[in-house]
Amino acid sequence: MGVYVVTGSASGMGAAVALRLRKDGHEVVGVDLADADVTADLSTRAGRIAASREILAKVDGPIDGAVLAAGMGPRRGRERMLVEVNYLGVTELLEALRPRLAQAGNAKVVVFGSNSTTSTPLVPRGAVRSLLAGDAAKAARILSRRGPLAAPASYAASKIAVARWVRRTSVAAEWAGAGIRMNVIAPGPVMTPLLAGQLASPTGSQVRSFPVPAREYGTPEQLAQWVMTMLSPAADFMVGSVITVDGGTEALLRPDDWPARLPGRLLPRMAWTMYQAPKRGQVADYSDV
Ligand code: NAI
Repeated sequence: MGVYVVTGSASGMGAAVALRLRKDGHEVVGVDLADADVTADLSTRAGRIAASREILAKVDGPIDGAVLAAGMGPRRGRERMLVEVNYLGVTELLEALRPRLAQAGNAKVVVFGSNSTTSTPLVPRGAVRSLLAGDAAKAARILSRRGPLAAPASYAASKIAVARWVRRTSVAAEWAGAGIRMNVIAPGPVMTPLLAGQLASPTGSQVRSFPVPAREYGTPEQLAQWVMTMLSPAADFMVGSVITVDGGTEALLRPDDWPARLPGRLLPRMAWTMYQAPKRGQVADYSDV
């Protein structure tokens, strides 16, 4: 049986994942603001440092997997807090856990993104870039200038940045090369306290107007089932993927945007990456075939 870290373990999808893991006999270290094995505020640097220290102190040895589900929904005037939880609450924690994940030999990491990444208009690129550079203060400044769009743009920016961080980082020698399989799950509307709060807010009608071809909201249990697969040996060959589970919204709104053709301008970068790959140990080893 394994040891798993689950953030956002007190509610919604994180709670559903923690329950499934415990039912299967695994040890779970849940992290949340309250009602968790490790209570910490992931919106502050001090909280993130305390959380990682406490997790590492509680787990004696390798960590078999981590599920990063703690997150805040769009909230007006809370741009800084939101990007800190949704982005740094994932990246800083994972950087701290990485050596213990590597010790497991084939650890799995699942990060919660969102399908809002591809359906939210006018997300400022500068905010995403600032987050990827680790500058949450700058990202929040850029986002707060968006007026009434600041809240949805902050949410989407934080989720775009975290998905890009996963795609960039997961393929590195210290991650995929160390046996860690890291991927993103991108849900559409799932009936949790977060979504219920959005539906009850002044912008609830906008949330409701979003088309869902499946004509129903997802359940935390359905998403937990996907996460369990992404934590299982089925994910041994899965690295840097963004798995959308959204009842069809994304396919309805952007049917032809991906798979995207490879534009000619990207060829030099791709050729360089392919040239470097053998040196980085990123070429499959067929020596025993
Ligand atoms: P939820 O609100 O039910 O659970 C989120 C948990 O994160 C809560 O227990 C909360 O206390 C914790 N959390 C929030 N801020 C924190 C902080 N500063 N420090 C520590 N813990 C904190 O939400 P839900 O819906 O289960 O969301 C899970 C993840 O899925 C989130 O990252 C969310 O952004 C994402 N998501 C949710 C969707 C939905 O429709 N419910 C859609 C797409 C993505």
